[in-house]
Amino acid sequence: MSDAYRDAFFTLHCDLPREGPGEPADVTWAAHLAGTPKTARLCDAACGPGADIAALRASAPDGHVTALDKYPHFIEQACALHGQDPAVTLSTGDMAQITGPFDLIWCAGALYFLGITEGLKTWRIALAPGGAVAFSEPCWFTDDRPQAAADLWNDEYPAMTDAAGIDAQVRAAGYRTLGTRKLSATAWENYYGPLDKRVAKLSPGDSPEMQQVLAEARREAEVWRAHQDSFGYLLSVVQPDDV
Ligand SMILES: C[S@@+](CC[C@H](N)C(=O)[O-])C[C@H]1O[C@@H](n2cnc3c(N)ncnc32)[C@H](O)[C@@H]1O
Repeated sequence: MSDAYRDAFFTLHCDLPREGPGEPADVTWAAHLAGTPKTARLCDAACGPGADIAALRASAPDGHVTALDKYPHFIEQACALHGQDPAVTLSTGDMAQITGPFDLIWCAGALYFLGITEGLKTWRIALAPGGAVAFSEPCWFTDDRPQAAADLWNDEYPAMTDAAGIDAQVRAAGYRTLGTRKLSATAWENYYGPLDKRVAKLSPGDSPEMQQVLAEARREAEVWRAHQDSFGYLLSVVQPDDV
C-alpha cells in the first residue's frame, strides 16, 4: 500500500463514528449469551473509534473495558468519547499482544487480521476462567454467490467462508461456538450511512489515490445493498473447549 493511498484512505475514514457494521444490540446479545457478569473485565480488541464501548460498559456496569487499536488516531477519537470514564482504559496497541485476564474479548470486524484460528489460539491465555470471545466476520449466507459480490470479496478477502467454515476454524482453535447471529441492516447502515456522506463530500477526489479509495468505498456499499441476502457479517460467541 503506497503512502498516498494510505493517506487517502485515512482522509476518507477519519472521524467516522465506526469503521465496520455494528449496533449496540449485538453487544448486548453477545454479553448475555456469554454469561458476562456485571463486574466483567471486557476487552474491545481493535476498537477503532470506540463505537462499541458504551454498549460494552452497559453490559457490565460494575466492570471495566480495556480498548485498544493499532491506529493512534482511532484511539484519540475514542478518548474524546470515553477518556474521562475511569472504567475505560484506552491505548494504542496490537491485539495479538493482549494478556488479560478478560471475561469477554469483543472483536468487531477485525479478527480476520490475525486469522480466526490463530487469533483465538493467541487469546486463550488472555481469557479468565469461564471467559468467551465474541467476533464478527464476513460470511457467505447462500451457496448462490452473485458475481459482483464474489468479485468484490475475491479482491478484498478471498478466504471468506460460510457459517460452517467459520465454525470449523473456531473448532480448530480448540473452542466451541455458543451461538451466532447475522448483523442486521441497521448495523450495516450505521457504517455505510456516515461513509456515504463522506464519499459525497470528497468526490470526485483530488488525486488518483483518492479517486481509487472513493471508488472502492462506493463499490463496497453498492454491492452490499444489492446482495445483502447473499453475504454479510456473522457474529459468533465462542468459548474454549476446556472451560
Ligand atoms: C473494520 S475496523 C473495525 C473497528 C471497530 N471494531 C468498529 O467496528 O468500528 C478494523 C480495525 O482493526 C484495527 N486493527 C487491525 N489490526 C490490528 C491489530 N493487530 N491490533 C489492533 N488493531 C488492529 C484497525 O486499525 C481497525 O480499526
